[in-house]
Amino acid sequence: MPLNDSLSRRRFLGASSLAGAATALRFSPLAALSGGLGSVLAQDTALKPALLGGPPVRTSPFPTWPRVDAGDEAALREVLHSGRWFRGDGQQVTQFEHAYAALTGAKYCVATANGTSALLASLAALDIGPGDEVILPPYTFVATLNVILLQYALPVFVDTDLETFQLDARKIESALTERTAAVLPVHLGGSAADLDTILEVAQRRRLPVIEDACQAHLAEWRGRKVGTWGATGCFSFQASKNLNSGEGGAILTNDEALADKCYGFHNHGRNRAATSRFHLAGSRAANLRLTEFQAALLRSQMTRVEAQSRTRADNAAYLTGLLRQIPGITPARLYDGCTRNAYHLYMFRYDDGPFAGLSRARFLAALSAEGIPCSGGYTPLNREPTLKATFTTRAYRRLYAPEVLQQCEERNQCPVNDRLCTQAVWFVQTMFLGDHRDMDDIAAAIQKIQRRAPELARA
Ligand SMILES: Cc1ncc(COP(=O)(O)O)c(C=O)c1O
Repeated sequence: MPLNDSLSRRRFLGASSLAGAATALRFSPLAALSGGLGSVLAQDTALKPALLGGPPVRTSPFPTWPRVDAGDEAALREVLHSGRWFRGDGQQVTQFEHAYAALTGAKYCVATANGTSALLASLAALDIGPGDEVILPPYTFVATLNVILLQYALPVFVDTDLETFQLDARKIESALTERTAAVLPVHLGGSAADLDTILEVAQRRRLPVIEDACQAHLAEWRGRKVGTWGATGCFSFQASKNLNSGEGGAILTNDEALADKCYGFHNHGRNRAATSRFHLAGSRAANLRLTEFQAALLRSQMTRVEAQSRTRADNAAYLTGLLRQIPGITPARLYDGCTRNAYHLYMFRYDDGPFAGLSRARFLAALSAEGIPCSGGYTPLNREPTLKATFTTRAYRRLYAPEVLQQCEERNQCPVNDRLCTQAVWFVQTMFLGDHRDMDDIAAAIQKIQRRAPELARA
């Protein structure tokens, strides 16, 4: 459907200023002539960018997050009054683990305190540590890097695929050395990284794959859930995530021995059958446990996760149809194998050419002013000062020769990612929990900015 047709179906908004903006979006020179000068002026005012004092396209908020219902309340109250607040006393965490494994089709699930600890436990269970190199993308949340550094291993960044925003799996092979111990791809934004290519190279080189699926609840690769393809798959239930208990995490695996190791690492070396709280069977470990409250909340939230996910996907597909018609806006492409996108983030590239050279920063400010929350996303992780600072710590200097650290820094160049970080625009998942009219507003606001881009660029 052409953009103007679809936009003409958008709702007539209550506030007069918004109605003015909606009218202006269907501006036609012919109609303006028949309406006289007053009508032209009215349309001109309505089209004035909100950043320059005009009426915003949207004043109503997008859906809020988290969503809470009586079931959540009852679940939390039950744990509260049971007095069983920790997994050693209650059954909520264990039941959640069974439910999450069933939902994803994994054989085993170990719930953890958060996504970071799910990744950390995976690395520890796979015995990845000092002297090892781990492949990761530069376009991800800092946790993906931090867990590698916490294990005193070396991060090796593989550049990003500009079109998909995911790690460019075609470039993994050339980044491998005899020290490479694991591949840690991220299913960024809820879309899937190219698992066919990643698994093929990893299997050929006998490397474990740890899937960072912290943003990708219910996403699928070739009809099977992401997080179930690698040695482990790690999820986050932190407050912003599509499945949320404030904080929380989970490890999926089909390998029983690995599941036991992860369990041991997250629970001070105890195994599931431990009869005593002081019985320690495993090696180096920590307390990374989920609480009974969080598990109860997750079990309740899980009753809605499928429906919410479908709503996001439907809205996102509709928005993609609209945005593809706006020159200069390129929604992130999905790999053919990505049969389901969780849309934790909706990501697109912004090219200032068709926007009269309007900078991305100014575009983001203009879009926000129109009532459409947005951000420019990540900065290049491989360039973060935290990496340099870590390499100068006593531990890293003891573990690695100066030339090894220097080479590591030199190898970690990702020019495509640098470019992407100047072009990316994100919308968050909560904006996709409403209906198509919300998507119409997003497209209308971008189109309005494009029409007035010269003025915005000059101001
Ligand atoms: C890609 C990615 N990896 C790891 C994490 C870490 O998860 P958590 O915040 O639950 O520790 C996050 C959370 O934002 C994430 O987005």
